Amino acid sequence: MEESDKKEVKKEGKMDKIVNLCLRRGVLFPSNEIYGSAAGFFDYGPVGVELKKNIENSWWKFVVNDRENVVGIDGAVVNVSKVWKASGHVDSFNDPLVECKKCHLRFRADHLIEDELKVSVDGVGVGQLQELIEKHEIKCPKCGGSLTEVQVFNLMFKTHVGAVEDEASLMYLRPETAQLIFTDFKRVLAVSRKKLPFGIAQIGRVFRNEISPRNFVFRSREFNQMELEFFIHPGKMNEIEIEKNDLKIECYFYTQEMQEKKTGQERMSFELALEKKVIGTKWHAYWMIEFFKWFIKIGIKPENLRFRQHVKTELSHYSSETWDLEYDYPWGWKEVEGIANRTDFDLKQHSKFSGEDLSFFDESEKSKVVPYVIEPSTGVERVVLTVLIDAYRERGDGRVFLDLKPSIAPVKAAVLPLMPKEELEKKARLVFNELKDKIVCDYDANGSIGKRYSRFDEIGTPFAITIDYQTLEDDTVTLRYRNDMKQERVKIRDLNEKMKKLIDE
Ligand code: GAP
Repeated sequence: MEESDKKEVKKEGKMDKIVNLCLRRGVLFPSNEIYGSAAGFFDYGPVGVELKKNIENSWWKFVVNDRENVVGIDGAVVNVSKVWKASGHVDSFNDPLVECKKCHLRFRADHLIEDELKVSVDGVGVGQLQELIEKHEIKCPKCGGSLTEVQVFNLMFKTHVGAVEDEASLMYLRPETAQLIFTDFKRVLAVSRKKLPFGIAQIGRVFRNEISPRNFVFRSREFNQMELEFFIHPGKMNEIEIEKNDLKIECYFYTQEMQEKKTGQERMSFELALEKKVIGTKWHAYWMIEFFKWFIKIGIKPENLRFRQHVKTELSHYSSETWDLEYDYPWGWKEVEGIANRTDFDLKQHSKFSGEDLSFFDESEKSKVVPYVIEPSTGVERVVLTVLIDAYRERGDGRVFLDLKPSIAPVKAAVLPLMPKEELEKKARLVFNELKDKIVCDYDANGSIGKRYSRFDEIGTPFAITIDYQTLEDDTVTLRYRNDMKQERVKIRDLNEKMKKLIDE
């Protein structure tokens, strides 16, 4: 076996372990399990729901609360069909599909080719996919039967609203949150009284009838998106002063040209990327930097991230330039966030289809403009999974812990009486009650102390506070650190302050 193959097996093994951990510890698991689940639908358990909320709250604070020029909305999930006709999704939100002529199983053509040939076919059109299938005589992976021609398959879920099922009652479950921001643009502009440039953000559920959901929650059929639509005067796409220190940040770039020439990715600063016109506009670069920083802030290692530019054939129907922030997953580099220049496509389309004027009146120019849009868009579940993969660690003896940042960790501290003795439990309850008003903590008196430490390590709890017999004598507790398992004695009266400092760090 080649060295590279060994690495791949190890990486694949890691994913199985993470899925196992998610099931065992109540992070995420298949929905409707007792009835036999449908692929691509998941529920968060008690640990997962805290992790999800922490990630969403971190994003919301970073994008909305910390900025004067961004406001938020929370739009409806079921939308009238005209929204999706106008946005282009009814005609263009498709994936390539093939069906086995023998067993009639259906597959996503590009995924099938990637699995068979072990190459990336991101951005390859339907015609070329067909050619690849024919050239390499790719057959059904289940029964070996031959495949139909590649067709396109629309990913939107339809429903009918009201008592009559006809064309008029047809509605769609939204496949992205973005369109609600465009359809609410006029009202939000009026109530927020913002001036260009400004943004509208949203976190919420979306639905896609994926042909082949895979890699646990990475590609699901129901998931949550965190999206920002940032509106900019079309003539002012370069009018922003990016902080000097931010421009110096370096990361890997994999441009259209590098992909076409197969030269591999290159490390450079954002300053150089702008100078060399690798990134089209300064506002685009600004949001790429901001989200690169956010992913690092929530604990992702920068060396596992890169920016890959969409090649021309891959660009969505609304985009003039898109950069995917990719993570080095066990199954290869894949998108965790997309940052697109959607131009004025959506606002113009909705103006046309609704008859509403969705332009912005520019006071200084005394004229109307239809703003351009930079859209950073990411999936909550994809971020959750990325955080788990990046934080997964094994100790020398095989025990597992998640090296989560305290700000993201589902439980910040575990309060543990050393043994199930009444006097220890009573004291531990006092400590827990005092702490739980300040931070999310958990109380656990069941099982050996070693097993309890391991349980909390596995869900990434950064601190454990143990109440023992010395506590009863001198009012100190043991504070144990998850990563190095070091312990120190801390006075109970100093605990609140100490925990706050540690979590903020
Ligand atoms: N509004 C633009 C948009 O929706 P996208 O690249 O289709 O663009 C944005 O999706 C993000 O949503 C992706 O970067 C990914 O994080 C997440 N995402 C997309 N499809 C997904 C799926 N089937 N399951 C989980 N997350 C998904």
